[in-house]
Amino acid sequence: MADAVRWTLDTTMHRSVARRAEDAGLSETVPQQVIAEGARHYTESCAHCHGGPGMDAAQWSRGMRPEPPHLTEAAAEWEPAEIYWIAENGIKMSGMPAFGTLHGPEELRAITAFVLQLPGLSPEDYAAMTGEGAQGRTNTGSE
Ligand code: HEC
Repeated sequence: MADAVRWTLDTTMHRSVARRAEDAGLSETVPQQVIAEGARHYTESCAHCHGGPGMDAAQWSRGMRPEPPHLTEAAAEWEPAEIYWIAENGIKMSGMPAFGTLHGPEELRAITAFVLQLPGLSPEDYAAMTGEGAQGRTNTGSE
């Protein structure tokens, strides 16, 4: 996609997401245990498209247009309430699904808290949180 088009899309998306995300009720400090819960949901619901620390996205998701971004970098661009809203509602006209029916508000908050940790998270921390050997593992999305 041309950069200009991409930019317009991003800007429009940020605005419309921010407008509807204000009342998600996300607190600033989240207990470690909630973040770990979010990590497990993330591994189940998000990692096959978005990857994780030390974990590649599934091969099939690389064929999607737009390609799902590796959230480790993308997460730094979004406000907590925006991440929550995106996870709940998905993104129209892209492959980003809505998880509002699969995950309730508590789970969505946990996922959001975890996604916010992604930029600084090492593969070892991620593996410890999810209780799996994420090292060198590729999530095929088939489990
Ligand atoms: C089936 C694949 C798929 C799954 C599963 C998925 N996503 Fe996405 N996601 C996408 C795609 C594709 C985009 C890019 C949309 C765009 O750029 O228009 C995206 C974009 C995003 C963005 C915006 C990132 C950015 O900067 O563009 C966030 C945040 C996000 N997803 C969070 C999540 C979370 C949290 C989960 C799990 C609850 C999840 N996604 C599961 C495909 C997926």
